[in-house]
Amino acid sequence: MYVCLCKGITDTQIRAAVQEGASSLREVHASLGVASQCGKCGIMARDIVRESLNDL
Ligand code: FES
Repeated sequence: MYVCLCKGITDTQIRAAVQEGASSLREVHASLGVASQCGKCGIMARDIVRESLNDL
């Protein structure tokens, strides 16, 4: 599912970034560019990062 429409980023990509070592929305933002335009995806992206960290 697309989380960030501006950058075309899916929840799968966010989860993969966490698997590869990202430990915060800030780090996922740095690697994927999520929430770098309108910012509307920020809350959902942060929730997915938290969920993924809990699953590690
Ligand atoms: Fe992610 Fe706009 S939807 S920055």
